[in-house]
Amino acid sequence: MEHYFTNNKNLKENTKKVDVKIKDTLFSFYTDNGVFNKKGLDYGTRVLLENINLKDKKSFLDVGCGCGPIGIYIAKQSENYSVDMIDINEKAVNLTNKGIKLNRLNNAKSFISNVYENIDSKYDMIITNPPIHAGKKVIYDIISSAKKYLNNNGEIWLVIRKDQGAKSLIKDMSDIYNIDIIKKDNGFYILQAKPIDTI
Ligand SMILES: C[S@@+](CC[C@H](N)C(=O)[O-])C[C@H]1O[C@@H](n2cnc3c(N)ncnc32)[C@H](O)[C@@H]1O
Repeated sequence: MEHYFTNNKNLKENTKKVDVKIKDTLFSFYTDNGVFNKKGLDYGTRVLLENINLKDKKSFLDVGCGCGPIGIYIAKQSENYSVDMIDINEKAVNLTNKGIKLNRLNNAKSFISNVYENIDSKYDMIITNPPIHAGKKVIYDIISSAKKYLNNNGEIWLVIRKDQGAKSLIKDMSDIYNIDIIKKDNGFYILQAKPIDTI
């Protein structure tokens, strides 16, 4: 079975520009066949961005960036922010880099990484709409390993559906993170996680 996170070079090209408005921010990103955002902005991603609190944070890592809506939105908030965006899917990374240029952002970049494999920096915030179809092991790896890539007082923000294991994830991660449910919207949970030993 073909998933959006596999690198399939045989898919027909069908690049489209998607225009989005979240709060007062207008931005665009490119989608195509073979990537998560093929149909445009995901509802869960929208709820995450509408509720995220970027205050006091400067460096951001968007894990599983897809075509880049999360990182592009954040980079547009301030030139003083720096945003790294990673995905295992080469096509997603290429589309994200096109989107970064389209939005004329000098404070964002996207590159390939299987989870944190190519990451050697630390960030104030790690944000993800995790790849549910990649399986629980990948999702748990993204969340549990995030701690190693956070600065002091760093935070993880994520969106996960109630019926895709939001409650068990909160329970399973409770020994390493204090997790707050920031918002519940149509079955989507927006979670903020703070590593327990930095609180
Ligand atoms: C649910 S999509 C989110 C895309 C985008 N951030 C958004 O909010 O619209 C999850 C993304 O994770 C990527 N992904 C899957 N497995 C991964 C892995 N092992 N390492 C990094 N990214 C992965 C997929 O390719 C996909 O683009």
